[in-house]
Amino acid sequence: MKNLSFPGLPRVLVVDDEEGVREGLRTMLQREGVHVETAGSAEDGVRRVEDRSYDVVFLDINLPGADGLSMLGKLRRGSPAADVVILTGYGTVANTVEAMRKGASDVIEKPFSSDRILAVVRRVLETRQLKNELTWLQDRVRELTATELVGLSPAIREVQTRIDQVAHAPDTTVLITGQSGTGKELVARCIHERSARRHGPFVAINCAALTESLLEAELFGYEPGAFTGAQKEGKDGLFAVAAGGTLFLDEIGEMEPSLQAKLLRVLQERSFRRVGGVQDIPADVRIVASTNRDLRQMVQIGRFREDLFYRLNVMTVHVPPLAERAADVPLLSHFFLDQIGRQMGKALSGFTEEAMETLCEYSWPGNVRELRNAIEHACIICPSGMIDEIHLPKFTGGILDGSDQIERAAVVLDAQDRSIRALESQLVARVLDETQWNISKAAAILGINRTTLYNKIRLYDLGKRPMRAKVIV
Ligand SMILES: Nc1ncnc2c1ncn2[C@@H]1O[C@H](COP(=O)(O)OP(=O)(O)OP(=O)(O)O)[C@@H](O)[C@H]1O
Ligand SMILES: [Mg+2]
Repeated sequence: MKNLSFPGLPRVLVVDDEEGVREGLRTMLQREGVHVETAGSAEDGVRRVEDRSYDVVFLDINLPGADGLSMLGKLRRGSPAADVVILTGYGTVANTVEAMRKGASDVIEKPFSSDRILAVVRRVLETRQLKNELTWLQDRVRELTATELVGLSPAIREVQTRIDQVAHAPDTTVLITGQSGTGKELVARCIHERSARRHGPFVAINCAALTESLLEAELFGYEPGAFTGAQKEGKDGLFAVAAGGTLFLDEIGEMEPSLQAKLLRVLQERSFRRVGGVQDIPADVRIVASTNRDLRQMVQIGRFREDLFYRLNVMTVHVPPLAERAADVPLLSHFFLDQIGRQMGKALSGFTEEAMETLCEYSWPGNVRELRNAIEHACIICPSGMIDEIHLPKFTGGILDGSDQIERAAVVLDAQDRSIRALESQLVARVLDETQWNISKAAAILGINRTTLYNKIRLYDLGKRPMRAKVIV
């Protein structure tokens, strides 16, 4: 038994009127490190299971003066967690079937061998251990995939309300907008999980990650031999895979115009065709699309189809930048500390006042993702106890050190106007956007003084309107 590594000593109760059986089982099991108690009558047995819990109960089904099957019922009710193994005389098969139906874990005929008894106990305990492990794993998976949109600020409450509204219309297309790292994918998952489609799959695809033809094949699937390199037997696309559920089209702004036309067709007809196919297949999916671009502006410069924009723009959820819900920073920090600390198996208890102050003062241009990365960094550095300022990454010029910075460093030009003046106005607008209009920080990043920056804001008439982080090629 010891090799089962069962937490604590396994506890067994033997209910049998024959002393020889009781003592025989006791000796046999105790030798294996099992804690054994015995009861010589039905009443004694029931009293014991009501008093304390057992892992396994051996029950003689032919106890004098007691109906074995109703005894089984009482034991199961008294100690629902225990496995009941029936001990029975030779040839009482009818009883056996009924006993299994009423929840007995196994039946052993008398006389029994010690091997048989030990095998049964071992199996019962192993099954239990597997069940415990499964429950533990399921809890972890639930934790890891938890779609909890943390936050109590008015801005995030508005998002929550919006999610509930769109969740109630499970076929309506939804467009989620917001800067990078604000939680758009999480919002998409929340919409799925709160909708009537939650029992169906949630399938996400990043439209920027694949070439046009691969994306097309991935979305719609293809017929056998549709193109060179295609699988012989053809393949289902994500519209088919997501049937009954939600299809999340991430970074929809990056989709090529010709594919935009095909997507528009699906939204209009509610059906699609595999690549190389002629048959219309019904599309039973809700489309949730997301973008960190200004689609309206892209429509204006001819980079995004206007008709598709209106099809997508039926219901929108805008996820505000973290700077507009700074009140949520402490709550989110604790949430991530708890989540990441547990994943790393570290005992981290919280943040020092200085650390929390630093987190609250920072402007988070990379939004919630940047905050999560900062907490992960701190969790790695901090050995145990409280996260202090020194465990946090260096925040420089309003921008966190690290990969996010590289991503944001690329300046993309407007195809229509390539004058230096146009480029400068875009650059100034973008840095202002990233620093949440912190004039000192923006001036430092641009390498000019505050007065010059004010002059440029006036010159380019930038005003204090929110801008998108990226400018389109
Ligand atoms: N309100 C929130 N509560 C808890 N976790 C959040 C919240 N918002 C974002 N996150 C977490 O922050 C990370 C970034 O979120 P997500 O990937 O949804 O952002 P995104 O807007 O899709 O970013 P991108 O535009 O870069 O794809 C994820 O780990 C997500 O779980
Ligand atoms: Mg995303």
